[in-house]
Amino acid sequence: MISSNSLTVRAVDGFSSEITVPGDKSISHRAAIIAGLANGPCRISNYLPSEDCLNTLRAMESLGVECDYIEANDHGPTEIIIDGTSMSLSSPPTAIDCGNSGTGMRLLAGILAGQNFESTLTGDSSLCSRPMGRIIKPLEDMGGHVRSAGEREGHAPLIFQGRSLEPIRYVMPVASAQVKSAVLLAGLFAKGTTTVEQPATTRDHTERMLTEFGIGVRREGNEISIEGGQTPEARDLDIPGDISSAAFWLVAAAAKKNSHLTVRGVGLNPTRTAVLQVLLRMGARINQSVTHTGGGEPAGDLAVYASELQGTEISGGEIPNLIDEIPIIAVAGALAQGTTSIRDAAELRVKESDRIRTVVENLQAMGANVTEHEDGMTINGGANLHGASLDCFGDHRIAMAFSIAGLFAEGDTFIRNTECIATSYPGFEQDFSRVCGIKVQ
Ligand code: S3P
Repeated sequence: MISSNSLTVRAVDGFSSEITVPGDKSISHRAAIIAGLANGPCRISNYLPSEDCLNTLRAMESLGVECDYIEANDHGPTEIIIDGTSMSLSSPPTAIDCGNSGTGMRLLAGILAGQNFESTLTGDSSLCSRPMGRIIKPLEDMGGHVRSAGEREGHAPLIFQGRSLEPIRYVMPVASAQVKSAVLLAGLFAKGTTTVEQPATTRDHTERMLTEFGIGVRREGNEISIEGGQTPEARDLDIPGDISSAAFWLVAAAAKKNSHLTVRGVGLNPTRTAVLQVLLRMGARINQSVTHTGGGEPAGDLAVYASELQGTEISGGEIPNLIDEIPIIAVAGALAQGTTSIRDAAELRVKESDRIRTVVENLQAMGANVTEHEDGMTINGGANLHGASLDCFGDHRIAMAFSIAGLFAEGDTFIRNTECIATSYPGFEQDFSRVCGIKVQ
């Protein structure tokens, strides 16, 4: 039984299904921002109408970008003409609310630091407790003036005074695509060459999209440089499905006996597909076919067939490329035979929830054998899972990961406060019913 803000899940038999997941969240944020800076109208198709991405779209509108909503589904606009401002944003009438979105806030910070007007970025209580010092530091190094007005130093709300920026060479202490993107976007508004060096490869959607919009972006290994003063040339974009959303179904089908699932039109950018490498190492049977490349992003189909999963080790440079999939990979680890070790993943503690704590707590509540570490967890798989009454701590990925876990548990799994799912995957509950055959009530 599913209602608007809770989910009750119980075990199902194997299933055979096909699914198209909604548009990629990371790419949708960037499309709203970069198209809004472009030199003319851009038609964006398959935009993700999730709360996070709608907040970024509203943010751009409040900065003077005109948006024409061409098509919508039950959750919001999916096809939009964004009329670029040729890099000329205007002062927002009120504080910009980024809701729950770290990506929205950090990327918007990159463009607001270099404007000639004052602006404020705020968000919900989860977002206002997440670290923003990581973007304040490089933006201030560029000459920006960013005041953190949160309860603690380095937390939102963030108030931007509006300054002209100088280029920098910034060596990032954490492997974060959001920080890299904030600096590169700020670099567009600075005079000269801004360079970012990342400690490990992170998702490269910003670099790809800027290149697609005709911006010169130089990449040498983990160093990315951009020349300020360029204006993105208007382009149309078709956003692929989000592999982070597909990951829930991939794990469900890989672990559930007698199941088969095809995911169509999903983004297959190699900086996002580490989840596939991990599942393959665990013994999953997955066929991947790249069918097209659009907007600089490869996309295609994934076919997954049930198999016996085995534990694996995940650490080091692989972590940033599957950071959002770790909650569902941890569920896969609990369903696998043997040990799954997840290390070097301390960044999980500063996501929408402390995802090390929340995953461990919920897995333990379901009877899994898990040990928490400061930077990850060790899961001794194969224990019989049982239903439980779980919280999702306001975290969409925790809500979805444990909905999938419930498919493998004895008895009912009840998940409270699942409305947060709409931040990244509106329609998850309906897809859940369709794929797994549980009736929505
Ligand atoms: C994202 C980067 C990652 C990821 C987030 C989306 C992006 O965050 O967890 O969901 O779109 O750039 P970090 O940059 O903090 O690693």
